[in-house]
Amino acid sequence: MDMRVTDGRHPALTDPGRYFVDQPAQSQFNVHRDLFRDAELFELEMAHVFEASWVYLCHESQLRSANDYYTTHIGRTPVVVLRGQDGALRGFVNACPHRGTRLYTARQGNAQVQMCPYHAWCFDSAGQCVKIKDQPQAGYAPSFGRQSHDLKPLGRLASYQGFVFGALPADVPALADYLGDARFFIDTFAQQSAQGMEILPGEVSYVFRANWKLQVENTMDIYHLTTVHSTFAKIVQQRGAREAAAAGADKVKAVNLGALAGQEQGTYTFPHGHTVFWGTDPLRENRALWAMRPDLLDRGVDPQQVEWMFRPRVLNFFPNIQFVDSACMQLRVIRPLAPDRTEMTMFCLAPRGEPAAGRRRRLRQYEDFFNASGIATPDDVACYEDIHAGGLGDAHSEWIQGFARGMDKVIAGPDSHARDIGIRPLESCSGVEIQDETVFRGFYREWLARMHKAGGAQPAQAAAGARA
Ligand code: FES
Ligand SMILES: [Fe+2]
Repeated sequence: MDMRVTDGRHPALTDPGRYFVDQPAQSQFNVHRDLFRDAELFELEMAHVFEASWVYLCHESQLRSANDYYTTHIGRTPVVVLRGQDGALRGFVNACPHRGTRLYTARQGNAQVQMCPYHAWCFDSAGQCVKIKDQPQAGYAPSFGRQSHDLKPLGRLASYQGFVFGALPADVPALADYLGDARFFIDTFAQQSAQGMEILPGEVSYVFRANWKLQVENTMDIYHLTTVHSTFAKIVQQRGAREAAAAGADKVKAVNLGALAGQEQGTYTFPHGHTVFWGTDPLRENRALWAMRPDLLDRGVDPQQVEWMFRPRVLNFFPNIQFVDSACMQLRVIRPLAPDRTEMTMFCLAPRGEPAAGRRRRLRQYEDFFNASGIATPDDVACYEDIHAGGLGDAHSEWIQGFARGMDKVIAGPDSHARDIGIRPLESCSGVEIQDETVFRGFYREWLARMHKAGGAQPAQAAAGARA
């Protein structure tokens, strides 16, 4: 039981629907600004959104050998994933049972035995306490010997295609059920190499002064590309022309955002709040994967899935992981720190065994667009911070208006593209130049369902519209 959440009277628990106007019949959806700035609500989000079900933890390639470990968080709880001597992955709360000191202090490493930095209790890579310093002469009562001093295991730990997810409680759906048909899109990442995928060395982490949900929205937001990233588009165009004139070749072949506009694009909303944005890249031969395309087809990967590997697409798995394949492949992990403070950690994902030329291009495209040092990411971050700097527009209205695009185009169930690949989203919206915003609703409806559940109320059609 989480003793930190004691106030059952908070409106998020007693009447979470007050934060939304969700009336599909009237084509209306609005979100209340308090959702981005209420400190008590933030604590409830941590308890009931992040700590109540599955969150992404790491990729198996980050723990290749016996005794490797990787540390991260589930909401406010530090956790560690260990690869035991038997090769199995296990997840634990990263806290010593003695006084609660954080046990593994590095992000990742290898330790057959980990010693607590405070009083030197020792734990093996299966999470078992193997030594209590100075135990014989300590005067412990017999009851001490009957207690477990092992690390506290997570309620659940499971992998899908090498991506490792964990949950604090045990009573959560099976991971495959939680991911649902959105797994098709993980497969478009995972099946790019017969040897599987790998996280490339290094990670980039930064903290921005804004609410975490603004990052989630941005990931699904096609509407901002031609404004926020016009700088990126101009720089890429000028650099390409300069390099072509000087050396006869554009070495990066960055994604051409201008070429994406006017092409078919769409969004899907899945159960449990997972969402997908997809587009069409007329210059897909510039993708790092292009040289591996014949091999993909030769080894029997479904040709439709291969086609989707070359569509720009962003998968947002509720609540904390984004699989991005636009300028290049990237994983983004969200860790909310406060209502107006969020940590993002980013990883470059690549197919194992990729030819050297493809790997070089991948790295150049990755560093070009993403990270705090890229040409595009800082422009997104400035927008989140400007939303908070603008007081979330409070002087204008309590309600945010940004969910109206695509309202007359969205359909219940799969569109023709989804039917072609055999997936069943709750909602689909596709076409040219829609720059859909209805996909945000799927994320917020899951948020609402979590709060209804935490407050003990039955969500009224949470997946289809709470106030229809
Ligand atoms: S807190 Fe870990 S040994 Fe004391
Ligand atoms: Fe962006």
